[in-house]
Amino acid sequence: MSVLVTGGLGYIGSHTCVELMNSGAEVVVVDNLYNCKKSSYDRIKALVGKDFKFYECDIRDAEGMSEIFEKESIDSVIHFAGLKAVGESVEKPLEYFDNNVNGTLVLLDVMRKHGCKKIVFSSSATVYGMNNVSPLTEDMEVGGVTNPYGRTKYMIECILKDLYVSDNAWSICLLRYFNPIGAHKSGTMGEDPNGIPNNLMPYITQVAIKKREFLNVWGDDYDTPDGTGVRDYIHVVDLALGHLKAVEKVEGENGLFIYNLGTGTGYSVLDVVKAFEKASGQEIPYKIGPRRAGDIATCYSEPSKALNELGWKAERGIEEMCEDSWRWQSQNPNGYPD
Ligand code: NAD
Ligand code: WQD
Repeated sequence: MSVLVTGGLGYIGSHTCVELMNSGAEVVVVDNLYNCKKSSYDRIKALVGKDFKFYECDIRDAEGMSEIFEKESIDSVIHFAGLKAVGESVEKPLEYFDNNVNGTLVLLDVMRKHGCKKIVFSSSATVYGMNNVSPLTEDMEVGGVTNPYGRTKYMIECILKDLYVSDNAWSICLLRYFNPIGAHKSGTMGEDPNGIPNNLMPYITQVAIKKREFLNVWGDDYDTPDGTGVRDYIHVVDLALGHLKAVEKVEGENGLFIYNLGTGTGYSVLDVVKAFEKASGQEIPYKIGPRRAGDIATCYSEPSKALNELGWKAERGIEEMCEDSWRWQSQNPNGYPD
């Protein structure tokens, strides 16, 4: 089995490439290096102990993508490539729609021209919007999203659903990720954000290595047990293993499949701070700030559909997520080398 992984040198893509190759799959990576370092390739290679194909190419480059499909024999695609910063998407909506939506259209057209009709897509819990009440199930109405990033995910889901209706020779799996954190056990791969992190865990790890003075906790007056926001954090390796099951699914049968990838358990911001302090032995000073625009109180998954249909379940708990995030950050204070 040969899988083309777009965005395969990024945070989730790199962990997925390792698990794919460990399971015996052939991997071909396409990444334009916009939000990753080339050294991520070397780290993946070192972990799996073998070479694999990497093309530096933008998924919007139809000619470049076609050449890859002509050279390689690709059975299926896992499509991670995209821009993902919610705040930035409000500032740069055109860039987000172009990269994420147009990029996906170009990719799908190239796939169709080369007779490859199996795709696993990185969607997000953000498509459930502000109005659904957790635990979130796959049959809930989606689309009440509040920012351009989330809208790109919703639009791509719509495009993929319409594509399947038009031609049911396609096999399409939409994976709605909750909050991926953690890192590879080796401490050699992890999340490496540019600039000031927007997400909770990379911010905490940067406080722990004293790159930032304290964590801003965005609001403690939500209707949650301790007043801070509750989320469904999932270990990135569990998420990667979910992709292996999803690829098997699209390889095995045609259809349009949708799964939540989460643990089903919610933790508050302060729960995560405490778990991280315990796992790392580092104190995390924090200050309570105002609510962050666009945030909701609580968001966690109902993960049983993926268990019943894919035989997948998240196995790693919050302690392990914190230990692994800390190992990665403490061993690589400046992230991946240039
Ligand atoms: P990431 O930024 O680390 O990885 C994305 C990779 O795609 C990067 O290596 C980047 O260089 C590449 N890329 C971007 N645009 C490209 C283009 N036009 N052509 C080729 N390569 C391109 O992000 P991640 O956290 O690994 O997320 C992967 C996917 O999962 C994204 O689509 C993201 O929206 C989605 N997702 C992420 C989260 C999260 O919290 N990390 C949650 C839900 C969904
Ligand atoms: C988690 C909790 C914050 C930072 C985002 C995207 C979502 C998905 C995952 C891609 C919230 C609080 C955070 C900080 C804080 N990405 N927080 N101080 O907002 O659940 O989801 O990433 O698809 O689309 O919206 O994740 O890590 O930003 O926040 O108090 O410095 O931590 O308010 O309660 P979020 P997050």
